[in-house]
Amino acid sequence: MEKTKLILDCDPGHDDAVAILLAARHPKLDLLGITVVAGNQTLENTQQNARKVLQWVGEDLPVYAGCPGPLVRQKLIAADIHGSTGLDGPVFPPLTKELEAEHAVHFIIHTLLDSDGEITVVTTGPMTNLALAIRLEPRIVEKIHRIVLMGGSYTNGNVTPAAEFNILADAEAAHICFTCGRPITMVGLDVTRKVLCYPEIVERMKRIGNPASELFAALMAHFCRTQKEIFGWEGGPLHDPVTVASLIDPQLLTLKPMNVQIDLRSTQSYGRTNCDYFGYLQLPPTADVAVDIDVEHFWDIIEEGLRLYSEDKP
Ligand code: BDR
Ligand code: CA
Repeated sequence: MEKTKLILDCDPGHDDAVAILLAARHPKLDLLGITVVAGNQTLENTQQNARKVLQWVGEDLPVYAGCPGPLVRQKLIAADIHGSTGLDGPVFPPLTKELEAEHAVHFIIHTLLDSDGEITVVTTGPMTNLALAIRLEPRIVEKIHRIVLMGGSYTNGNVTPAAEFNILADAEAAHICFTCGRPITMVGLDVTRKVLCYPEIVERMKRIGNPASELFAALMAHFCRTQKEIFGWEGGPLHDPVTVASLIDPQLLTLKPMNVQIDLRSTQSYGRTNCDYFGYLQLPPTADVAVDIDVEHFWDIIEEGLRLYSEDKP
């Protein structure tokens, strides 16, 4: 079986942590490295969090720290959702897993340049690292198989009425990535708000009874509480793992090609992903936008992914 090669660029973050768990061990995926950016918390926190997650489940994948803030605007964090560490909830043992010395942007550049164009770049945080890599070394663009991002929305935002966090946190970076000319799949709030992690889902995963499922349950205890406080939902939307799950089963999402433009100029709607759902502009599509998700299948993929940690590492 041909594995899908990917780089996961993230800002853990509770849902990023689940994306890492899903990507690190799945037999259909070949995770080449984890690159980290400031987003849900400062870079210092997010890079530590990525290592804490891997250490918890005994995975030794390389973690590279990238950009400590967005390209142009002021840094935005999401401590209201993810807490003061970015991964509040679980009690992690002292961190022993080391950070790679190489900068994340350089790792992305040389990994893509050395490839045959088969690497998918998944981003589940602000798109700063990938955008900077594209600006620093434009020859990587043709080597990107596809960009799959969690971000944006063709309906409502989650930080402002118009904007979703990952795009708002670095809209200029998102603009660079969306206009780079490679295929791009936008997994936005429109679908990720359909995968609400209700208490019965947490119980179902907890029953698996291995380190990954214990971590999942501890993460969701915090994440679901803050999501309820802020949005009033009984279950937190498990945004980021939808990207990885869609690589495991490309049938998971219903995609609609649309012309997508990032709003960089407006005051009220800065960071909005303007998706021409109805084709008003008569412009060519620039992204495949997720418009629906098979929710039951998603939870099956999550369960299957967590169960992999019951087995000895292949
Ligand atoms: C996105 O923002 C972050 O808080 C989450 O990790 C996710 O990537 C959802 O808007
Ligand atoms: Ca994230």
